[in-house]
Amino acid sequence: MTTLCDLALEVLETKEAAAKAALSRSHAAKWYANRSMDIGHANPPERPARPAKPDLISPTEMPRRRGQSDAARATLLHAVLHIELNAIDLAWDMIARFTAEGFPRRFYDDWVQVADEEGKHFQMLSDRIADFGFSYGDFPAHDGLWEAAWSTRHNVTARLAVVPMVLEARGLDVTPAMIDRFAKMEDFASADILKVILDEEIGHVATGNRWFHYMCLKTNMEAKKHWQKMVRENFRGLLKPPFNEDARRRAGFSPDYYLPLSTPVSRS
Ligand SMILES: [Fe+2]
Ligand SMILES: [Fe+2]
Repeated sequence: MTTLCDLALEVLETKEAAAKAALSRSHAAKWYANRSMDIGHANPPERPARPAKPDLISPTEMPRRRGQSDAARATLLHAVLHIELNAIDLAWDMIARFTAEGFPRRFYDDWVQVADEEGKHFQMLSDRIADFGFSYGDFPAHDGLWEAAWSTRHNVTARLAVVPMVLEARGLDVTPAMIDRFAKMEDFASADILKVILDEEIGHVATGNRWFHYMCLKTNMEAKKHWQKMVRENFRGLLKPPFNEDARRRAGFSPDYYLPLSTPVSRS
């Protein structure tokens, strides 16, 4: 019988990006349609399968994204598109990697929902850059997301602290400015897609936050202290303000967690 971990592995091992996104969505539907499906066990790959393109470069080498041309807009959206592809793999990796923790079924429902939404985000952005004549892989991208995930592969609280609660939370901070930028160009189609993403990403941060606290309660750890420790040990550098405190708060994430780990806000 097919288990949830079998479905997760299939997504992780799918190379082509559009196929991976489609499978993420259809496998999520399978899980929700079969309430007796077992979780199973898996040995997720060190690196998920990916297409030959885009070229992966260091974040500092990323091309500038000025102007309003189709290529400039597609470059901007492609950076998010690449994050969404990573996010698909990260959600299924979360499902497959930590089965020994004995999480309740709700944990899997939550991460399958995240995987489904990341697949949707990928598809929406992919359709949008197709309007500009581009597709996934046409611009270089960076590998920082998977690197952060890799360094937390042995510890579920480290993974939860860094992936949803640092990296996805960072998305909440930077997306409103992108929405404004597209709105100012009167590209409301792109702005609307980013609004959907922002809204659903609040849910992803909330999911990470909820299961991080669940683990802390279960193992008798003080959540704030443990979160800060996990971030210090597993995330290079300081967190970068300004923070979208409102969105973070809606995800159940309060400033007394992250402000002590942030660079000082410059007052100029
Ligand atoms: Fe997303
Ligand atoms: Fe997400």
